[in-house]
Amino acid sequence: FESDAAQAFGAAADGEALEAARVEFLGAKAGRLKAIQKGMGGVDKADKPAAGQKLNAVKGAIETAFETAKTRLDSGASTGVQDAFDITLPGRPLRRGRLHPITQTIERMKEIMGRLGFTAVEGPEIEDDWHNFVALNIPEVHPARDPLDNFYLSVAQRAESSSTPAEPAPALGPDGKPLLLRSQTSTVQIRTMEAAIAATAEGDDPPPVRIVSLGRVYRPDTADATHYPMFHQIEGLCIAPGVTMADLKGVLQMFWQSYFGLESSEPIEVRFRPSFFPFTEPSVECDIWHDGKWMEIGGAGMVDPNVLRAVGYDPEQVTGFAFGLGIERICMRQHGITDIRDLYANDVRFLAQF
Ligand code: PHE
Repeated sequence: FESDAAQAFGAAADGEALEAARVEFLGAKAGRLKAIQKGMGGVDKADKPAAGQKLNAVKGAIETAFETAKTRLDSGASTGVQDAFDITLPGRPLRRGRLHPITQTIERMKEIMGRLGFTAVEGPEIEDDWHNFVALNIPEVHPARDPLDNFYLSVAQRAESSSTPAEPAPALGPDGKPLLLRSQTSTVQIRTMEAAIAATAEGDDPPPVRIVSLGRVYRPDTADATHYPMFHQIEGLCIAPGVTMADLKGVLQMFWQSYFGLESSEPIEVRFRPSFFPFTEPSVECDIWHDGKWMEIGGAGMVDPNVLRAVGYDPEQVTGFAFGLGIERICMRQHGITDIRDLYANDVRFLAQF
């Protein structure tokens, strides 16, 4: 009986046939199992428990066979399956993902600077007063600290009562000074030099430093075609005895030469214009000659002795250069992107072009 049922369920080619088999064996009114159950009345009293157990076991086995058959049909493995699957239809192409244009630019820059001997390092995006300002020679009363130019962090406060919501309080670092989203990657200069000094044994000369750091920075600018409250910078730092401004210019020139892939017979021109940054002296704005015009690419200069002293280098022993360039501008220029907001709208139709 049990194997009759299993066979009937197994042979069912569609839901209708399976349902007919189910009614035949498991039907509540006239099913064959029901008929056997009814017959239990005639069984000897002493044999009843054993017979009941046997009946339950049979019922379980039949139900399992039914479920198995049902699963088989639901998953489409019925005998009619070949008819539903036309192997002559063309396949659906897989859509391949790709890296964001900014990520591509970053990878490219990292690779070129790596060949010039600069190791890529990272720093936190939430910074403290020391790394974003003090150690970079930005004094307590400098306009660069203006809350209108920085994203200072605050923490929500528990309200005293529901009618008077609490003002958020400034989020403070371990030094009791406000925390903020870094406004420039120059913070990583400080962290790198501090780590180098910390790793120097008493009496040894601190090691030279040659790093690049590529990452996000934040400024509360209103978004328009050329501004966005978050963007990316590449920061370079080189510290060693005898480093000069000529090294800075040479490194930038080789970098751009590689980046734009020009023949070495056609050297790319880098131009310095006098400028000011608190953490470099002298300071310059850099331009490169590209596509028949000067293109502004960022700031640079010789690391200010005050910065070297702040992290524990002796400005009598070492000098260094630093530069900080905007990544979006270069990426946009390279691809002919005219609105920075397109980079962050996450429209696949735009991003799939790169
Ligand atoms: N941090 C500067 C900026 O964001 C750029 C810079 C970096 C200038 C390093 C000099 C040296 O504008």
